[in-house]
Amino acid sequence: MSFPITRLRRLRRSEALRRMLRETRLSRDDLVYPLFVVEGSGVRAPVTSMPGVFRLSVDALVIECKEVHDLGIPAVLLFGVPDEKDARGSGADAADGVVQRAVEAVKSAVPGLCVVTDVCLCEYTDHGHCGLIEDGDVANDPSLVRLAETAVSHARAGADVVAPSDMMDGRVAAIRAALDGGGFDAVPILSYAAKFASAYYGPFRDAAESTPQFGDRRSYQMDPPNAREALREMRLDLEEGADILMVKPALPYLDVLARARAEFDVPLAAYHVSGEYAMVRAAAERGWIDGDRAMHEALIAIKRAGADLILTYAAKDVAAQLVP
Ligand code: PBG
Ligand code: ZN
Repeated sequence: MSFPITRLRRLRRSEALRRMLRETRLSRDDLVYPLFVVEGSGVRAPVTSMPGVFRLSVDALVIECKEVHDLGIPAVLLFGVPDEKDARGSGADAADGVVQRAVEAVKSAVPGLCVVTDVCLCEYTDHGHCGLIEDGDVANDPSLVRLAETAVSHARAGADVVAPSDMMDGRVAAIRAALDGGGFDAVPILSYAAKFASAYYGPFRDAAESTPQFGDRRSYQMDPPNAREALREMRLDLEEGADILMVKPALPYLDVLARARAEFDVPLAAYHVSGEYAMVRAAAERGWIDGDRAMHEALIAIKRAGADLILTYAAKDVAAQLVP
């Protein structure tokens, strides 16, 4: 049956009808809020390229996490930004490292908040790469040892979930084995499974001081044109024991997310990354778009494409706007 019998506009006539027939909804329950932890105390330093985002010392982080929890956001993702960096990323798995102290402090002050930790070496290495360097290149297998040690140190500090973002081959299996061996078989792995070598990470690298000092990440992060390969990455991570699979960035890779949704019956996450966030905020600051609406539209698109979880710097703003 078609026009004039069928008129799709009939169901769009009022806000009540539109509300009733909405296919996708954004909820606070979907959100994970990324945070950057630095050394010191009383630090709340704005990240210039990410309006509304701050680098926080552990004491300020605890205050922030209480607020996040009060807003009904279930989880945070912590990135440690240490003062000292070296070739092997010694700070990454230090028992008294910045992220380990942050996890302990947050879990004791806000036990109901789920603490996810980013597991990578790039914030801790002086060369800024996500793995160890041998003969001028990122060495895969030696890096696995350091990543596994890092994940275990996070679990020991009390992390609820570990999230490896390095893109080394075999890291999920290595981390799963190390966690299980260390008595942490109950700690899930949220794998950055399909992580692309993206220009949209620019603002993050300012915040996390993780810009590679030579070369780039294209020998380990994925080539943006490849969607089938992304599904292979995700399949392998599942086989290695990943509990949740992530696609990153989000908006430029909604096709990958939608294909993953059709293919895998596991929880999917999408990372609405720093550049995606910064573009909306920058245009809104200039009065070129309605920032709140654009942000909501971006996140609902990510949900519609199939994400169960959305990691976004807009989590607090969006949660505050959602009617409970
Ligand atoms: C580092 C890491 C990056 C992000 C999360 N973990 C950046 C990179 O790979 O260079 C990006 C997050 C963002 O842009 O918001 N392993
Ligand atoms: Zn990294």
